Amino acid sequence: MASYIIEGGKKLEGEVNISGSKNASLPIMAASILSGETTTLYNVPNIYDTQTTAKILKILGCNVTRKNGKVIIDSQNMQSKEIPDELMRKMRSSVVLAGALIGRFREATFSYPGGCDIGTRPIDLHLKGFEKLGIKIEENNGFIKCSCDKIIGNDIHLDFPSVGATENIILASIFAEGETMITNAAMEPEIEDLQNFLNKMGAKVQGAGTNVIKITGVKKLKAVSYNIMPDRIEAGTMLCMGAVTGGDIVVNNVRLEHITPVLYKLEEAGNKITIGTNKIELQGAKRLKAVDIKTMPYPGFPTDMQSIFTAMLCFAKGTSMIIENIFENRYKYVNELIRMGAKITIEGKIAIVKGVRKMTGAEVNSTDLRGGAALVLAALTAKGSSKINNIEYILRGYENLDKKLTKIGAKIIQQN
Ligand code: UD1
Repeated sequence: MASYIIEGGKKLEGEVNISGSKNASLPIMAASILSGETTTLYNVPNIYDTQTTAKILKILGCNVTRKNGKVIIDSQNMQSKEIPDELMRKMRSSVVLAGALIGRFREATFSYPGGCDIGTRPIDLHLKGFEKLGIKIEENNGFIKCSCDKIIGNDIHLDFPSVGATENIILASIFAEGETMITNAAMEPEIEDLQNFLNKMGAKVQGAGTNVIKITGVKKLKAVSYNIMPDRIEAGTMLCMGAVTGGDIVVNNVRLEHITPVLYKLEEAGNKITIGTNKIELQGAKRLKAVDIKTMPYPGFPTDMQSIFTAMLCFAKGTSMIIENIFENRYKYVNELIRMGAKITIEGKIAIVKGVRKMTGAEVNSTDLRGGAALVLAALTAKGSSKINNIEYILRGYENLDKKLTKIGAKIIQQN
Protein backbone atom coordinates (compact mmCIF):
# COMPACT_ATOMS: atom_id res chain seq x y z
CA MET A 1 0.00 0.00 0.00
CA ALA A 2 1.44 3.36 -1.02
CA SER A 3 1.03 6.63 0.90
CA TYR A 4 1.44 10.36 0.46
CA ILE A 5 3.30 12.35 3.09
CA ILE A 6 2.11 15.94 3.00
CA GLU A 7 3.41 18.92 4.96
CA GLY A 8 0.52 21.39 5.23
CA GLY A 9 0.48 25.15 5.11
CA LYS A 10 2.07 25.94 1.76
CA LYS A 11 0.26 28.33 -0.57
CA LEU A 12 -0.21 26.88 -4.06
CA GLU A 13 0.99 29.21 -6.79
CA GLY A 14 1.63 28.68 -10.49
CA GLU A 15 0.26 26.81 -13.49
CA VAL A 16 -1.05 23.24 -13.75
CA ASN A 17 -1.74 21.36 -16.99
CA ILE A 18 -4.88 19.26 -16.81
CA SER A 19 -4.65 15.70 -18.18
CA GLY A 20 -7.07 13.91 -20.48
CA SER A 21 -10.36 12.82 -18.99
CA LYS A 22 -10.53 9.48 -17.19
CA ASN A 23 -14.27 9.14 -17.68
CA ALA A 24 -13.98 9.84 -21.42
CA SER A 25 -10.92 7.61 -21.95
CA LEU A 26 -12.51 4.48 -20.48
CA PRO A 27 -15.61 4.23 -22.74
CA ILE A 28 -13.60 5.42 -25.77
CA MET A 29 -10.94 2.74 -25.22
CA ALA A 30 -13.78 0.20 -24.98
CA ALA A 31 -15.48 1.63 -28.09
CA SER A 32 -12.29 1.22 -30.10
CA ILE A 33 -12.94 -2.54 -30.40
CA LEU A 34 -16.08 -1.90 -32.45
CA SER A 35 -14.09 -1.07 -35.57
CA GLY A 36 -11.92 -4.21 -35.68
CA GLU A 37 -9.21 -1.82 -36.89
CA THR A 38 -6.45 0.25 -35.30
CA THR A 39 -7.39 3.22 -33.13
CA THR A 40 -4.86 5.82 -32.01
CA LEU A 41 -5.86 7.86 -28.96
CA TYR A 42 -4.05 10.95 -27.69
CA ASN A 43 -4.24 12.63 -24.28
CA VAL A 44 -5.10 9.40 -22.42
CA PRO A 45 -4.08 9.86 -18.76
CA ASN A 46 -1.63 7.27 -17.45
CA ILE A 47 -3.63 6.21 -14.39
CA TYR A 48 -4.58 2.84 -12.88
CA ASP A 49 -8.02 2.80 -14.53
CA THR A 50 -6.71 3.27 -18.08
CA GLN A 51 -3.98 0.70 -17.31
CA THR A 52 -6.64 -1.79 -16.18
CA THR A 53 -8.70 -1.13 -19.32
CA ALA A 54 -5.60 -1.71 -21.47
CA LYS A 55 -4.99 -4.97 -19.58
CA ILE A 56 -8.55 -6.18 -20.24
CA LEU A 57 -8.27 -5.26 -23.93
CA LYS A 58 -5.05 -7.28 -24.17
CA ILE A 59 -6.69 -10.30 -22.51
CA LEU A 60 -9.54 -9.99 -25.03
CA GLY A 61 -6.93 -10.28 -27.78
CA CYS A 62 -6.17 -6.66 -28.73
CA ASN A 63 -2.68 -5.42 -29.30
CA VAL A 64 -2.26 -2.35 -27.07
CA THR A 65 0.78 -0.08 -26.95
CA ARG A 66 1.14 3.15 -25.02
CA LYS A 67 3.69 5.90 -24.87
CA ASN A 68 3.04 9.00 -22.80
CA GLY A 69 -0.55 9.98 -23.60
CA LYS A 70 -0.69 8.05 -26.86
CA VAL A 71 -2.46 4.69 -26.81
CA ILE A 72 -2.74 2.49 -29.90
CA ILE A 73 -5.35 -0.26 -29.84
CA ASP A 74 -5.42 -2.82 -32.63
CA SER A 75 -8.53 -5.00 -32.27
CA GLN A 76 -8.29 -6.89 -35.58
CA ASN A 77 -7.44 -10.24 -34.08
CA MET A 78 -9.49 -10.15 -30.91
CA GLN A 79 -11.73 -13.14 -30.34
CA SER A 80 -12.52 -13.43 -26.64
CA LYS A 81 -15.94 -12.19 -25.59
CA GLU A 82 -15.47 -12.75 -21.87
CA ILE A 83 -14.30 -10.00 -19.52
CA PRO A 84 -12.12 -11.53 -16.77
CA ASP A 85 -13.84 -11.51 -13.38
CA GLU A 86 -10.77 -10.28 -11.47
CA LEU A 87 -10.42 -7.14 -13.61
CA MET A 88 -14.16 -6.54 -13.75
CA ARG A 89 -14.18 -6.39 -9.95
CA LYS A 90 -11.33 -3.88 -9.95
CA MET A 91 -13.13 -1.27 -11.96
CA ARG A 92 -16.83 -0.64 -12.38
CA SER A 93 -16.47 1.18 -15.67
CA SER A 94 -15.21 -2.05 -17.27
CA VAL A 95 -18.95 -2.72 -17.67
CA VAL A 96 -18.94 -0.50 -20.81
CA LEU A 97 -16.85 -3.16 -22.48
CA ALA A 98 -20.03 -5.25 -22.45
CA GLY A 99 -21.80 -2.85 -24.84
CA ALA A 100 -18.75 -2.74 -27.12
CA LEU A 101 -18.42 -6.56 -27.18
CA ILE A 102 -22.12 -6.98 -27.90
CA GLY A 103 -21.85 -4.40 -30.68
CA ARG A 104 -18.89 -6.18 -32.25
CA PHE A 105 -19.74 -9.88 -31.65
CA ARG A 106 -23.40 -9.86 -30.52
CA GLU A 107 -22.13 -11.65 -27.42
CA ALA A 108 -20.49 -10.75 -24.07
CA THR A 109 -19.94 -12.52 -20.76
CA PHE A 110 -19.00 -10.63 -17.60
CA SER A 111 -19.49 -10.63 -13.84
CA TYR A 112 -21.01 -7.88 -11.72
CA PRO A 113 -18.64 -4.90 -11.77
CA GLY A 114 -16.65 -3.59 -8.82
CA GLY A 115 -15.01 -0.18 -8.36
CA CYS A 116 -15.04 2.36 -5.55
CA ASP A 117 -17.36 1.40 -2.72
CA ILE A 118 -19.60 4.46 -2.83
CA GLY A 119 -22.97 2.76 -3.00
CA THR A 120 -24.69 -0.33 -4.35
CA ARG A 121 -24.27 0.76 -8.01
CA PRO A 122 -26.52 -1.74 -9.76
CA ILE A 123 -26.49 -2.28 -13.56
CA ASP A 124 -30.21 -2.95 -14.05
CA LEU A 125 -30.59 0.03 -16.42
CA HIS A 126 -27.76 -1.28 -18.64
CA LEU A 127 -29.35 -4.74 -18.83
CA LYS A 128 -32.88 -3.40 -19.45
CA GLY A 129 -31.48 -1.32 -22.31
CA PHE A 130 -29.74 -4.37 -23.83
CA GLU A 131 -32.98 -6.39 -23.61
CA LYS A 132 -34.84 -3.64 -25.48
CA LEU A 133 -32.31 -4.09 -28.31
CA GLY A 134 -33.25 -7.76 -28.61
CA ILE A 135 -30.34 -9.08 -26.56
CA LYS A 136 -30.95 -12.17 -24.43
CA ILE A 137 -29.59 -12.00 -20.88
CA GLU A 138 -28.78 -15.08 -18.81
CA GLU A 139 -27.45 -14.88 -15.26
CA ASN A 140 -25.55 -17.82 -13.81
CA ASN A 141 -23.33 -17.99 -10.69
CA GLY A 142 -22.70 -14.25 -10.69
CA PHE A 143 -21.90 -14.19 -14.41
CA ILE A 144 -24.05 -12.43 -16.98
CA LYS A 145 -24.15 -13.69 -20.54
CA CYS A 146 -25.59 -11.42 -23.23
CA SER A 147 -26.21 -12.80 -26.71
CA CYS A 148 -28.42 -12.43 -29.76
CA ASP A 149 -28.59 -13.20 -33.47
CA LYS A 150 -29.17 -9.59 -34.38
CA ILE A 151 -29.43 -6.29 -32.61
CA ILE A 152 -32.58 -4.35 -33.41
CA GLY A 153 -32.87 -0.61 -32.80
CA ASN A 154 -35.59 0.49 -30.37
CA ASP A 155 -36.80 3.36 -28.19
CA ILE A 156 -35.28 3.15 -24.71
CA HIS A 157 -36.32 5.36 -21.82
CA LEU A 158 -33.96 5.39 -18.84
CA ASP A 159 -35.61 5.60 -15.39
CA PHE A 160 -32.55 7.59 -14.29
CA PRO A 161 -29.98 9.32 -16.53
CA SER A 162 -27.18 6.83 -15.82
CA VAL A 163 -23.88 7.71 -17.49
CA GLY A 164 -22.73 4.09 -17.86
CA ALA A 165 -26.11 2.81 -19.10
CA THR A 166 -26.31 5.62 -21.71
CA GLU A 167 -22.81 4.76 -22.95
CA ASN A 168 -23.45 1.01 -22.99
CA ILE A 169 -26.68 1.36 -24.97
CA ILE A 170 -24.96 3.64 -27.51
CA LEU A 171 -22.14 1.10 -27.97
CA ALA A 172 -24.45 -1.90 -28.28
CA SER A 173 -26.61 -0.16 -30.92
CA ILE A 174 -23.91 1.14 -33.28
CA PHE A 175 -24.42 -1.78 -35.72
CA ALA A 176 -28.12 -2.33 -34.90
CA GLU A 177 -30.73 -2.69 -37.58
CA GLY A 178 -32.65 0.59 -37.73
CA GLU A 179 -32.75 3.40 -35.23
CA THR A 180 -32.33 3.53 -31.46
CA MET A 181 -33.55 6.48 -29.44
CA ILE A 182 -32.51 6.93 -25.80
CA THR A 183 -34.67 9.33 -23.80
CA ASN A 184 -33.78 10.69 -20.36
CA ALA A 185 -30.19 9.98 -21.42
CA ALA A 186 -27.31 11.24 -19.26
CA MET A 187 -25.96 14.55 -20.61
CA GLU A 188 -22.37 14.40 -19.28
CA PRO A 189 -19.71 15.88 -21.63
CA GLU A 190 -17.83 12.56 -21.66
CA ILE A 191 -20.79 11.06 -23.56
CA GLU A 192 -20.43 13.81 -26.16
CA ASP A 193 -16.73 12.95 -26.44
CA LEU A 194 -17.69 9.30 -26.99
CA GLN A 195 -20.18 10.37 -29.68
CA ASN A 196 -17.53 12.47 -31.44
CA PHE A 197 -15.12 9.54 -31.41
CA LEU A 198 -17.72 7.07 -32.71
CA ASN A 199 -18.84 9.44 -35.47
CA LYS A 200 -15.24 9.97 -36.53
CA MET A 201 -15.06 6.17 -36.98
CA GLY A 202 -18.17 6.34 -39.19
CA ALA A 203 -21.00 5.77 -36.70
CA LYS A 204 -24.23 7.81 -36.75
CA VAL A 205 -24.89 9.11 -33.24
CA GLN A 206 -26.71 12.40 -32.62
CA GLY A 207 -27.79 14.34 -29.57
CA ALA A 208 -25.16 13.42 -26.95
CA GLY A 209 -24.95 16.32 -24.50
CA THR A 210 -28.79 16.51 -24.52
CA ASN A 211 -31.23 14.06 -22.95
CA VAL A 212 -32.30 12.51 -26.27
CA ILE A 213 -29.72 10.50 -28.19
CA LYS A 214 -30.40 8.91 -31.57
CA ILE A 215 -28.26 6.13 -33.02
CA THR A 216 -28.75 5.01 -36.62
CA GLY A 217 -27.16 1.63 -37.20
CA VAL A 218 -24.25 1.45 -39.65
CA LYS A 219 -22.52 -1.56 -41.24
CA LYS A 220 -18.85 -0.78 -40.69
CA LEU A 221 -16.44 1.51 -38.85
CA LYS A 222 -12.94 2.60 -39.80
CA ALA A 223 -9.54 3.19 -38.19
CA VAL A 224 -9.13 6.70 -36.69
CA SER A 225 -7.04 8.78 -34.36
CA TYR A 226 -8.73 10.87 -31.66
CA ASN A 227 -7.79 13.38 -28.98
CA ILE A 228 -9.49 12.81 -25.59
CA MET A 229 -11.15 15.84 -23.88
CA PRO A 230 -9.61 17.34 -20.72
CA ASP A 231 -10.58 16.02 -17.29
CA ARG A 232 -13.13 18.41 -15.75
CA ILE A 233 -12.94 16.71 -12.34
CA GLU A 234 -9.15 17.04 -12.16
CA ALA A 235 -9.51 20.73 -13.10
CA GLY A 236 -12.11 21.24 -10.35
CA THR A 237 -9.94 19.39 -7.82
CA MET A 238 -6.90 21.57 -8.58
CA LEU A 239 -8.95 24.77 -8.32
CA CYS A 240 -10.29 23.71 -4.91
CA MET A 241 -6.76 22.83 -3.75
CA GLY A 242 -5.60 26.29 -4.82
CA ALA A 243 -8.57 27.86 -3.03
CA VAL A 244 -8.10 26.06 0.29
CA THR A 245 -4.49 27.21 0.54
CA GLY A 246 -5.46 30.82 -0.29
CA GLY A 247 -3.21 30.46 -3.33
CA ASP A 248 -3.21 31.80 -6.87
CA ILE A 249 -3.25 29.10 -9.53
CA VAL A 250 -3.94 28.79 -13.24
CA VAL A 251 -5.30 25.55 -14.67
CA ASN A 252 -4.53 25.04 -18.36
CA ASN A 253 -6.34 22.76 -20.80
CA VAL A 254 -9.88 23.11 -19.44
CA ARG A 255 -13.21 23.60 -21.15
CA LEU A 256 -15.02 26.32 -19.29
CA GLU A 257 -18.52 25.09 -20.19
CA HIS A 258 -17.75 21.75 -18.51
CA ILE A 259 -17.00 23.18 -15.10
CA THR A 260 -19.42 26.09 -14.84
CA PRO A 261 -21.34 24.73 -11.80
CA VAL A 262 -18.06 24.25 -9.93
CA LEU A 263 -16.81 27.75 -10.81
CA TYR A 264 -20.06 29.35 -9.57
CA LYS A 265 -19.66 27.66 -6.21
CA LEU A 266 -15.98 28.60 -5.98
CA GLU A 267 -16.95 32.24 -6.60
CA GLU A 268 -19.79 32.05 -4.09
CA ALA A 269 -17.21 30.82 -1.56
CA GLY A 270 -15.28 34.06 -2.07
CA ASN A 271 -12.57 33.13 -4.60
CA LYS A 272 -11.80 35.32 -7.60
CA ILE A 273 -12.09 33.47 -10.92
CA THR A 274 -10.65 34.84 -14.17
CA ILE A 275 -11.43 33.09 -17.43
CA GLY A 276 -8.88 32.88 -20.26
CA THR A 277 -8.76 30.80 -23.44
CA ASN A 278 -8.81 27.16 -22.29
CA LYS A 279 -7.52 28.29 -18.91
CA ILE A 280 -8.90 29.49 -15.59
CA GLU A 281 -7.16 31.46 -12.87
CA LEU A 282 -8.26 31.22 -9.25
CA GLN A 283 -7.15 33.69 -6.61
CA GLY A 284 -8.06 32.25 -3.25
CA ALA A 285 -10.22 34.12 -0.71
CA LYS A 286 -8.54 35.37 2.50
CA ARG A 287 -11.08 33.21 4.33
CA LEU A 288 -13.51 30.99 2.41
CA LYS A 289 -17.25 31.46 2.98
CA ALA A 290 -19.66 28.58 3.61
CA VAL A 291 -21.80 27.52 0.62
CA ASP A 292 -24.48 24.87 0.10
CA ILE A 293 -24.02 22.13 -2.49
CA LYS A 294 -26.51 19.70 -4.03
CA THR A 295 -25.13 17.04 -6.38
CA MET A 296 -27.18 16.41 -9.53
CA PRO A 297 -26.74 14.73 -12.91
CA TYR A 298 -24.95 17.00 -15.41
CA PRO A 299 -25.27 19.97 -15.85
CA GLY A 300 -25.83 20.04 -12.08
CA PHE A 301 -23.04 20.04 -9.51
CA PRO A 302 -21.03 16.81 -10.09
CA THR A 303 -21.07 14.09 -7.45
CA ASP A 304 -17.37 13.49 -8.23
CA MET A 305 -16.61 16.97 -6.79
CA GLN A 306 -18.70 16.49 -3.64
CA SER A 307 -15.97 15.14 -1.34
CA ILE A 308 -13.46 17.69 -2.58
CA PHE A 309 -15.82 20.60 -1.90
CA THR A 310 -16.79 19.18 1.49
CA ALA A 311 -13.12 19.03 2.50
CA MET A 312 -12.57 22.59 1.27
CA LEU A 313 -15.62 23.88 3.15
CA CYS A 314 -14.24 22.43 6.41
CA PHE A 315 -12.07 25.56 6.47
CA ALA A 316 -14.80 28.05 5.50
CA LYS A 317 -16.42 30.64 7.75
CA GLY A 318 -19.91 29.45 8.68
CA THR A 319 -21.91 26.28 8.15
CA SER A 320 -22.34 24.55 4.77
CA MET A 321 -24.96 21.99 3.85
CA ILE A 322 -24.06 19.29 1.31
CA ILE A 323 -26.71 17.05 -0.24
CA GLU A 324 -25.50 13.96 -2.12
CA ASN A 325 -28.24 12.89 -4.52
CA ILE A 326 -26.41 10.44 -6.78
CA PHE A 327 -24.65 7.82 -4.64
CA GLU A 328 -26.00 6.76 -1.23
CA ASN A 329 -22.66 5.89 0.35
CA ARG A 330 -20.37 8.69 -0.67
CA TYR A 331 -19.43 10.09 2.77
CA LYS A 332 -17.00 7.39 3.93
CA TYR A 333 -14.05 9.80 3.81
CA VAL A 334 -15.77 12.08 6.35
CA ASN A 335 -14.59 10.01 9.34
CA GLU A 336 -11.01 10.51 8.15
CA LEU A 337 -11.52 14.28 7.88
CA ILE A 338 -12.91 14.26 11.43
CA ARG A 339 -9.62 12.68 12.58
CA MET A 340 -7.93 15.80 11.22
CA GLY A 341 -10.25 18.09 13.18
CA ALA A 342 -13.17 18.65 10.78
CA LYS A 343 -16.60 19.31 12.27
CA ILE A 344 -19.00 17.36 10.07
CA THR A 345 -22.21 15.54 10.88
CA ILE A 346 -23.96 13.19 8.47
CA GLU A 347 -27.68 12.50 8.34
CA GLY A 348 -28.54 10.21 5.43
CA LYS A 349 -27.61 12.03 2.25
CA ILE A 350 -26.95 15.34 4.02
CA ALA A 351 -23.64 16.50 5.48
CA ILE A 352 -23.51 19.56 7.72
CA VAL A 353 -20.04 21.10 7.72
CA LYS A 354 -19.17 23.62 10.44
CA GLY A 355 -16.13 25.53 9.26
CA VAL A 356 -13.07 25.57 11.53
CA ARG A 357 -10.06 27.89 11.41
CA LYS A 358 -7.53 25.11 11.58
CA MET A 359 -7.20 21.35 11.14
CA THR A 360 -4.25 19.20 12.18
CA GLY A 361 -2.20 16.74 10.15
CA ALA A 362 -2.89 13.06 10.90
CA GLU A 363 -2.50 9.56 9.50
CA VAL A 364 -5.64 8.81 7.49
CA ASN A 365 -6.86 6.23 4.97
CA SER A 366 -8.27 6.85 1.50
CA THR A 367 -11.65 5.21 1.20
CA ASP A 368 -12.28 5.79 -2.51
CA LEU A 369 -10.88 7.82 -5.42
CA ARG A 370 -12.48 11.22 -4.81
CA GLY A 371 -12.61 10.73 -1.04
CA GLY A 372 -8.83 10.19 -1.17
CA ALA A 373 -8.37 13.42 -3.12
CA ALA A 374 -10.44 15.20 -0.45
CA LEU A 375 -7.94 14.02 2.21
CA VAL A 376 -5.03 15.34 0.12
CA LEU A 377 -6.82 18.69 -0.09
CA ALA A 378 -7.31 18.85 3.68
CA ALA A 379 -3.69 17.81 4.32
CA LEU A 380 -2.41 20.62 2.07
CA THR A 381 -3.67 23.20 4.51
CA ALA A 382 -3.74 21.30 7.83
CA LYS A 383 -1.16 22.23 10.47
CA GLY A 384 1.82 19.87 10.41
CA SER A 385 2.35 16.63 8.58
CA SER A 386 -0.21 14.09 7.29
CA LYS A 387 0.17 10.56 6.01
CA ILE A 388 -2.50 9.45 3.56
CA ASN A 389 -2.61 5.68 3.13
CA ASN A 390 -4.17 3.53 0.40
CA ILE A 391 -3.45 6.08 -2.28
CA GLU A 392 -3.97 3.35 -4.89
CA TYR A 393 -7.54 4.69 -4.95
CA ILE A 394 -6.26 8.17 -5.83
CA LEU A 395 -3.89 6.80 -8.47
CA ARG A 396 -6.89 5.25 -10.24
CA GLY A 397 -7.96 8.68 -11.39
CA TYR A 398 -5.29 11.38 -10.97
CA GLU A 399 -2.22 11.44 -13.20
CA ASN A 400 1.00 12.58 -11.48
CA LEU A 401 -0.89 14.29 -8.67
CA ASP A 402 2.20 14.55 -6.45
CA LYS A 403 4.36 15.99 -9.24
CA LYS A 404 1.72 18.50 -10.32
CA LEU A 405 1.20 19.69 -6.73
CA THR A 406 4.95 19.90 -6.08
CA LYS A 407 5.34 22.11 -9.15
CA ILE A 408 2.93 24.66 -7.67
CA GLY A 409 4.50 24.71 -4.23
CA ALA A 410 3.05 21.82 -2.22
CA LYS A 411 5.24 19.60 -0.04
CA ILE A 412 4.12 16.10 -0.96
CA ILE A 413 6.02 12.87 -1.47
CA GLN A 414 4.85 9.43 -2.45
CA GLN A 415 6.02 6.48 -0.33
CA ASN A 416 5.63 3.03 -1.82
C1 UD1 B 1 -20.12 7.60 -13.93
C2 UD1 B 1 -18.71 8.09 -13.67
C3 UD1 B 1 -18.54 8.44 -12.20
C4 UD1 B 1 -19.60 9.44 -11.76
C5 UD1 B 1 -21.01 8.93 -12.15
C6 UD1 B 1 -22.11 9.95 -11.89
C7 UD1 B 1 -17.37 6.91 -15.31
C8 UD1 B 1 -16.33 5.89 -15.58
N1 UD1 B 1 -17.77 7.05 -14.03
O1 UD1 B 1 -20.31 6.42 -13.17
O2 UD1 B 1 -17.25 9.01 -12.03
O3 UD1 B 1 -19.56 9.59 -10.37
O4 UD1 B 1 -21.04 8.61 -13.56
O5 UD1 B 1 -21.83 11.14 -12.54
O6 UD1 B 1 -17.79 7.62 -16.21
N2 UD1 B 1 -27.79 3.33 -11.34
C9 UD1 B 1 -28.79 2.39 -11.22
N3 UD1 B 1 -28.85 1.40 -12.15
C10 UD1 B 1 -27.99 1.31 -13.19
C11 UD1 B 1 -27.00 2.27 -13.32
C12 UD1 B 1 -26.90 3.28 -12.37
O7 UD1 B 1 -29.57 2.44 -10.28
O8 UD1 B 1 -28.12 0.38 -14.01
C13 UD1 B 1 -27.66 4.40 -10.33
C14 UD1 B 1 -26.35 4.29 -9.55
O9 UD1 B 1 -26.46 3.37 -8.49
C15 UD1 B 1 -26.16 5.70 -9.08
C16 UD1 B 1 -26.73 6.53 -10.23
O10 UD1 B 1 -27.57 5.64 -10.97
O11 UD1 B 1 -26.91 5.94 -7.93
C17 UD1 B 1 -25.69 7.14 -11.15
O12 UD1 B 1 -24.89 6.13 -11.71
P1 UD1 B 1 -24.24 6.23 -13.16
O13 UD1 B 1 -24.62 7.54 -13.77
O14 UD1 B 1 -24.57 4.99 -13.88
O15 UD1 B 1 -22.72 6.26 -12.80
P2 UD1 B 1 -21.55 5.45 -13.46
O16 UD1 B 1 -21.75 5.37 -14.93
O17 UD1 B 1 -21.30 4.23 -12.69
